[in-house]
Amino acid sequence: MTDHTETDVLVVGSGIAGLASALAAAREGADVTVATKATRPEGASSWWAQGGIAIARDDPEQFKADILEASSDTADPDAVDVLVENANEAVEDVLLETLDVEFDTNGQSGFDFGREAAHSSNRILHVDASTGKHIHVPFLNYLDSHDDVTIRDDTAALELIRHEGRVHGAVLESDGDFEPTYAGAVVLATGGIGDLYPRTTNPAGSTGDGIAMAALAGADVTDMEYVQFHPTVCVANDSPFLVSEAVRGEGAVLRNGDGERFMPDYHEDAELAPRDVVARAVKTERDATGEVTLDVSPLDFAGEFPDLVEKCEDHGVDYEDGIPVAPAEHFLCGGIDVDEHGRASLDRLYAVGECARTGVHGANRLASTSLLEGLVWGLRAGEDAAGKDVDVIEAPELLERDPELPERFAEEKFHRLRRVMDEYVGLERDPDDLGRAMAVLRRLKGEVDAYTRTRTSRSLYELRAASVTALLIARQAAENEESVGCHHLVEEASADGGQAPEPRADD
Ligand code: SIN
Repeated sequence: MTDHTETDVLVVGSGIAGLASALAAAREGADVTVATKATRPEGASSWWAQGGIAIARDDPEQFKADILEASSDTADPDAVDVLVENANEAVEDVLLETLDVEFDTNGQSGFDFGREAAHSSNRILHVDASTGKHIHVPFLNYLDSHDDVTIRDDTAALELIRHEGRVHGAVLESDGDFEPTYAGAVVLATGGIGDLYPRTTNPAGSTGDGIAMAALAGADVTDMEYVQFHPTVCVANDSPFLVSEAVRGEGAVLRNGDGERFMPDYHEDAELAPRDVVARAVKTERDATGEVTLDVSPLDFAGEFPDLVEKCEDHGVDYEDGIPVAPAEHFLCGGIDVDEHGRASLDRLYAVGECARTGVHGANRLASTSLLEGLVWGLRAGEDAAGKDVDVIEAPELLERDPELPERFAEEKFHRLRRVMDEYVGLERDPDDLGRAMAVLRRLKGEVDAYTRTRTSRSLYELRAASVTALLIARQAAENEESVGCHHLVEEASADGGQAPEPRADD
């Protein structure tokens, strides 16, 4: 363990939410450290965002209504107000004026606002279908050259430093060295949990680190059962990639293995039905007919989505034959419980972005609201987190003896964890299976805990984070007896080999 460092605000994670927190705290005069496991921009989920960032335009009320409807009225209306009322200004201030992001335009009428499922109008700013990287890279560059912000990449936060309900910093690991970093406030912005499932749109390393650290420190974590699966992830080979909902927004249709378009039988909005409805329909049709493809022939795919065309080519997919798709884990709607300023239930602890549960998404998230939520809450949390004293207290002692894990230990445990999450805590859940999942995950967590008593390494702590987070998801799923949004319960699913029930027209 090396001595220690101090910073006014410690931000953990480098996606749009973390960067917005850093920017806002620095604007308040704070000295900010951003610690991120990522070694390249691609290490943050924000980089991968395709569809875009929705704004309120001149109709915040309708935007709010769409968010509430997509969540089956489970979103918190006050949190949604914070989002829609701050959307235009945050985008204008940070993305347009500070970072100069060049969103697509359509000639005289200004921005080329796109539309995705469950949006009642065109309100999504985008750059082709690779909006994330066009925001994330300039944001990183801007903060990299900011005098008051230090970005430490390849640096993991392993444990929060806490005393009597207040957080004072975190123990960071870099290059095998452990260093307590004391801060006036800690902002967790560690992103999603995609690594808990075999197929995901998240980058590697999305192991729920912030959620686990917060939960282990005693912070409230809620709505964890609401794991959103994206319906259209290209599965032509072993490296799946997202095919944005924007493609369906422009007219692409889904066909089953018999070549039939099926979505109109499931929902009146067909391909633009809420995401969970489309994802379950895709799974059902794949199970019944062998495959589902996205037919892009109704639109000028090459003209409108050149970057997706390139991706198809890179992956050897001939999109003219239809793109083979399946659902994949995409976004966690729940997380660390926070208020309208990103404050968690422990003093001086904040959470923003996907690891936070603001209440905006409820049981299901409206497309293209995640970058916006990260931006709005990031700014609010960063502003609030600045200006607090740094107290140097005793840090948890991390054991450095026996640092090596048995060969393939983490790999094998991750494999087991992902299989359990996929089979029992996936798109459709059987209450009995959730009980089984908890039993397996508890055992697995016990095995991992036994190792953390004598060893400290990043991979072990990632595995610990994954096991804590997976157990939270399974437990909260088991406690929620109501099928709503992303939490879909089926009866007797495992007894008949996992068959989904017949879909209803209004499903
Ligand atoms: C997409 O482009 O389909 C993803 C957008 C989102 O998840 O918000």
